[in-house]
Amino acid sequence: VSHGRKDSESEKTRSAKKNISDFLHRDSPQNKNDLQFPEFICVCSQVLLQVEIYEIEGNIFRIKINEAAPLRARYEVPDVLIKEPTTQRLSVSQKEAGILVLTSVNKDYTLQVTANPFQVELHSKGETVLSMNSNGLLYFEHLQPPPSDRKSTEKQEDLGLWQEKFGSFLDFKAHGPSSVGVDFSLHGFDHVYGIPQHAESLLLKNTSDGDAYRLYNLDIFGHKIHEKIGIYGSVPLLLAHKPNRTSGIFWLNSSETLVDINTKAVSGSAADTAKQRAVPLTDVRWMSESGIIDVFLLMGPTAFDIFKQFAQLTGTQALPPLFSLGYHQCRWNYEDEQDVKAVDAGFDEHDIPYDVIWLDIEHTDGKRYFTWDKKKFQNPKRMQELLRKKKRKLVVIVDPHIKVDPMYALYSQGKDKGYFVKDRNGQDFEGICWPGSSCYLDFTNPEVRKWYADQFAFKTYKGSTNILFVWNDMNEPSVFKGAELTMQKDAVHYKNWEHRELHNLYGFYQQMATAEGLIKRSSGKERPFVLTRSFFAGSQKYGAVWTGDNTAEWGYLKISIPMLLTISLAGISFCGADVGGFIGDPEPELLVRWYQAGAYQPFFRGHSNMESKRREPWLFGEKNTQIIREAIRERYVLLPYLYTLFYRAHTVAEPVMRPLWVEFPGKLETFGVENEYMLGKQVWVGEQYSPAIWYDFRTFIRMEDPGTLKIPVTLDNIPVFQRGGTVIPLKTTAGKSTEWMIDVSYELHVALDTEARAIGELYLDDGHSFQYLHKKQFLYRKFTFHKNILSSR
Ligand code: GLC
Repeated sequence: VSHGRKDSESEKTRSAKKNISDFLHRDSPQNKNDLQFPEFICVCSQVLLQVEIYEIEGNIFRIKINEAAPLRARYEVPDVLIKEPTTQRLSVSQKEAGILVLTSVNKDYTLQVTANPFQVELHSKGETVLSMNSNGLLYFEHLQPPPSDRKSTEKQEDLGLWQEKFGSFLDFKAHGPSSVGVDFSLHGFDHVYGIPQHAESLLLKNTSDGDAYRLYNLDIFGHKIHEKIGIYGSVPLLLAHKPNRTSGIFWLNSSETLVDINTKAVSGSAADTAKQRAVPLTDVRWMSESGIIDVFLLMGPTAFDIFKQFAQLTGTQALPPLFSLGYHQCRWNYEDEQDVKAVDAGFDEHDIPYDVIWLDIEHTDGKRYFTWDKKKFQNPKRMQELLRKKKRKLVVIVDPHIKVDPMYALYSQGKDKGYFVKDRNGQDFEGICWPGSSCYLDFTNPEVRKWYADQFAFKTYKGSTNILFVWNDMNEPSVFKGAELTMQKDAVHYKNWEHRELHNLYGFYQQMATAEGLIKRSSGKERPFVLTRSFFAGSQKYGAVWTGDNTAEWGYLKISIPMLLTISLAGISFCGADVGGFIGDPEPELLVRWYQAGAYQPFFRGHSNMESKRREPWLFGEKNTQIIREAIRERYVLLPYLYTLFYRAHTVAEPVMRPLWVEFPGKLETFGVENEYMLGKQVWVGEQYSPAIWYDFRTFIRMEDPGTLKIPVTLDNIPVFQRGGTVIPLKTTAGKSTEWMIDVSYELHVALDTEARAIGELYLDDGHSFQYLHKKQFLYRKFTFHKNILSSR
């Protein structure tokens, strides 16, 4: 702590210290062999910090560090943990003075807590898995009285800590500097993943000679590839993997966060192999602008355990309505009702399945969400009835900024009720976005969320029907002409929290309120579909995310795979990238390839920018139309499998799309693979590596020898394989949309392993309601092929 209060401690601090030491010495205060709890006092400031260590059911440890008696409460992230975690009783013993040993209930783990210097080491059966503060980078800026409150004799603090300039913006820190940070060393690990969202590779890179990974939700139009700057969404979950173990660190903090990674290379040379073989080690340093240190150590030990542990804390993927796993056709903008009709008809004419057509911001009356442009969409209900007859859906955009216009009900009500985020002077914060001057709803307030959810009621949202679903965009939030195109950090939210504390949560809350609104409008019966651009840990509970404004270039297609894998590892299975690339015009081959890739990714939507040429799938010549048709039809045939994978994501937190290393955790050569992936356990999308028996998905030809395969690639399709020993459920043919396919038969592809066996499963339900949950109305079949008999139970 660099600028601590060196004066006499406050009354509050003194009494907190006394309470803690009374507590610690309660049993036998005079005894020399007393339990010496690592009292942890910042040496220069004498401010007492309190460390809480919990064991949580299921191999999770939580470490919280806060000031014992802060001048005011510090922000602790609400609403992200699905419930207060169930703690277990760690047993405590003392090793020597200043060292405590905490043992987990199942005795598999011990935490050694050292007082001076403060350090926590986590051991599993004699092996050190990770340590905290082993590089001594713990810091905790304690809250201080503002400089003006101080005695005149006291040296005024540098105002830089209370005010900061960013370009032409001045950030007033009403409560002063309050950053926190600490380092972790991951022992034996040199592969780390996670902490989306960056347009970066799957494996996290060493940041020692470059930028740290930044977690700060921003709207970056035309973002570049291979940058550590944060875009749109953040999940502060990092995974570390080595052949016998996967571990996770979940840093629960929603302020601007930086993560430094320093992986020390293992030297493989002969000299090292003698006595002191170098052991890999990855140092991870987390730094947040504000809040407290609240960190969950997920002990795995497998990747699937980590997924479950993270879901236990933040929830699982919402089960999507089946239609939303079909193909989505979007554009900024489909101009009017006529355009919508024509595009819809185009799909039928070209025999290409699709489920949803999307309307971007131009469908509204002057970017007033929940309204319609009356000229272009004179009769939105009629349009939706047409789509309904075609067994298709509509998605419309609903952004969080509200046009400043006293005649616009949403604005005037929001204003009257005080539902907008305030600026530092207590006025409604005004920024510029699509509609011009706009205010921003304060979704952190539960009352605002309830009111917002009610806006989706059919009688309130005029022209909406139950085939209309929602897209939340610009919710980082995007503020044109704002610092870094977002909201000032000194803006003020519900309960007087500054925006800086919760910036990364803003989009999370909007999607939460929207999803609640869609559920509510159906009286709790129907599953919602909400796509969001901004997200945080736990956003999986509310719907889907996409990777934002990518560019129609090959590099963006390539990076979309590691980006989606990273989001999937962080708990959000329902994710996708704009097929074709949002900005610019893809060359036909790129568009074709993007459709082929997108067909095997969880969220599958073609989207394009206003300035780009029209790109409905049939505009690129008969040959390309044919290939795109095939790709989309293949997606529809695969839906039973995909839907089953989503059921598993929903119930047991398995990511739908996953890196190879998750399936082959002992195979070092898979750890860095990011141009291939697995869809579930059974389908491998890629062309080079094969650590099992595989069958070509389309020809059923068995790839003979496991190892590296070279497969000729033509423009017609991309390489997809089914794992030997598996049964995959499919539909026998595609239809015009998912709803057209209800009566299409199922087909099972049984791919045998070396012992002529196979297993697989199929989940199915009505595809749209919550009856699977409330009434257990679903089928969940397990298939086994053994001794030439296929059985199902
Ligand atoms: C943002 C979105 C994009 C959308 C556009 C207009 O750029 O990322 O998908 O089309 O806004 O709403």
